[in-house]
Amino acid sequence: MCGIFGYINYLVEKDRNYILNTLINGLSRLEYRGYDSAGLAIDGDKKNEVFAFKEVGKVAALRKLCEDSKPDLTKVFDSHAGIAHTRWATHGRPSRLNCHPHRSDPNWEFAVVHNGIITNYKELKALLEAKGYKFETETDTEAIAKLAKYIYDQHPDIEFPNLAKAVIKELQGAFGLLMKSVHYPHEVIAARKGSPLVVGVRTQKKMKVDFVDVEYTEEGALPAERASQNVALKKSNNLLAPPDKSLLHRSQSRAFLSEDGVPMPTEFFLSSDPSAIVEHTKKVLYLEDDDIAHIHEGSLNIHRMTKDDGASNVRAIQTLEIELQEIMKGRFDHFMQKEIFEQPESVVNAMRGRLDLEHGKVTLGGLRQYITTIRRCRRLIFIACGTSYHSCMAVRGIFEELTEIPIAVELASDFLDRQAPVFRDDTCVFVSQSGETADSLMALRYCLERGALTVGFVNVVGSSISLLTHCGVHINAGPEIGVASTKAYTSQFVCMVMFALSLSEDRASKQKRREEIIEGLGKISDQFKEVLKLDQSVKELCLRFKDQKSLLLLGRGAQHATALEGALKIKEISYLHCEAVMSGELKHGVLALVDENLPIVMILTRDDIFPKSLNAYQQVIARKGRPIIICNYDDEEFPPEKTDKIEVPRNVDCLQGLINVIPLQLMSYWMAVGEGLNVDMPRNLAKSVTVE
Ligand code: F6R
Repeated sequence: MCGIFGYINYLVEKDRNYILNTLINGLSRLEYRGYDSAGLAIDGDKKNEVFAFKEVGKVAALRKLCEDSKPDLTKVFDSHAGIAHTRWATHGRPSRLNCHPHRSDPNWEFAVVHNGIITNYKELKALLEAKGYKFETETDTEAIAKLAKYIYDQHPDIEFPNLAKAVIKELQGAFGLLMKSVHYPHEVIAARKGSPLVVGVRTQKKMKVDFVDVEYTEEGALPAERASQNVALKKSNNLLAPPDKSLLHRSQSRAFLSEDGVPMPTEFFLSSDPSAIVEHTKKVLYLEDDDIAHIHEGSLNIHRMTKDDGASNVRAIQTLEIELQEIMKGRFDHFMQKEIFEQPESVVNAMRGRLDLEHGKVTLGGLRQYITTIRRCRRLIFIACGTSYHSCMAVRGIFEELTEIPIAVELASDFLDRQAPVFRDDTCVFVSQSGETADSLMALRYCLERGALTVGFVNVVGSSISLLTHCGVHINAGPEIGVASTKAYTSQFVCMVMFALSLSEDRASKQKRREEIIEGLGKISDQFKEVLKLDQSVKELCLRFKDQKSLLLLGRGAQHATALEGALKIKEISYLHCEAVMSGELKHGVLALVDENLPIVMILTRDDIFPKSLNAYQQVIARKGRPIIICNYDDEEFPPEKTDKIEVPRNVDCLQGLINVIPLQLMSYWMAVGEGLNVDMPRNLAKSVTVE
């Protein structure tokens, strides 16, 4: 739930002003991941001096603190390592003290920024306290910095990566972390286990390498029998005995060499997310779980904590395909608004190269090898959280209809709580914008352990879910910065419909229906443009919700998912209680709430069950309710004089939810703006929920 950013230059002269700006701008891009406090650590004016700045609130507050503290901005460094963090509190309330970076001691010998949770920090803390270390914060991260100092003090000639390995071997839980130290000036350790980390590289001359080797030594820096069980270690008080020198790993330096084969001036950008890197360089590599990257003197070495057979032993340097303008707000006031308006384009990107309208064919390259196996599976289980879960709900019906495979749609947390049965012949589909959601990731690991085939539908390339699943589809929605997910929902929806079409390709009885859906997909982008023209009328309708305490959103069949998604948007952005109700359930209880005062929105677009949806409408009218309805253009069932309506274009029933959700996204947006709320950063929420 936090964002980390690091900047390291080697033989590239940069003044402190540049270094601070680079770190702070990086944090601003990552602010969607957490924004209750922010901090950074850079080199001071003297040798072995560290300047740390920490502030509660948004990144702008940190920028102000740095400005007010007036460090010498003109001081030039030709090599420097800076680390920074934007926090979303998990352990310890938001405060300057709890804010990262955390330090080993008052002299900042070791400074650490960390995303994730160290589950055994209490044991580590107790152990280190017993050795005389004084903890000053309520965080789990502080234990990492103190542990590093403890090991260093015992072995002052240890190399930085070996020290990092020794520290990391003691950590349980999930982390993405950066560590710098006065003992290893201009060097940074970046390590990940469960939380994403990307390394961007900018060289002044053309790079000679297009991959980085991954190195592994059998035992790592500490003998194995001492390296795993903290509790046992605590009892024996044997933790951190001197490393066995024979096992120390000497790393092969992997410099970014120029054409002439010499290390060259290089800058490294480390980030939780490539969107914070793209303005500096497009050359990136993604660290994988258990990687420890060591950056020093223009070199990047990647060491492994574990030896996994079959795991790749190189990390390819990839070229980012996102453009800077994609992560800027442009003419919009908020990222969420921009992302809502990007949908005519983002759905096209989801279908590009995959949907052949002319021949009625769908090709999902990422699933090609597995599609026959999936067709034969016992069950298709969709597993996700929040909005991504709603997109699975939205497509459940069409999967059942086209594939005739039993379908289950599961909330990842509940699925794990129940320890639901999973079999080798199940196919488990993980849907996630970020690809890092802890609940979904844990459910994925659970399914992998049980031998199921796993498929990912993910937006963020290189994210954990995309790396861990057997196969999958990138939804190509582009960076989604607003905390409330909008364009990822419609792109997930479209990609999953294409998946259903692909699975049913061999079914003669479904051909007509498939053609109808493919034709419908071809119309979606233009229909989105039509719906978005309703923006101002939706804004005006929202005035009706001013000062209301609650709102009901009714939908039936596939539109129940639309109602759920609309209600979630309204709750998270405008803080108005909003409940989605399956229209068929109205008479089983919720009807008691309906009167002339309760605001209600009903989704009443045409489909096979429209007559039943109409029953619910009549029930509401009979109780003097005055619902706003979402219906198709010119539906004579709803004369204008009687009803406030939002008229939307009609598409094939299973795609209608894509269109209907847009007025609800706009509604939530305008309600929040009307209340003067921070649309892109709603209170208590973060974009990427990397904790359980
Ligand atoms: C709501 C929202 C969240 C996410 C949920 C899952 O607008 O964004 O409900 O959908 O946290 O996140 P991902 O899709 O990244 O797994």
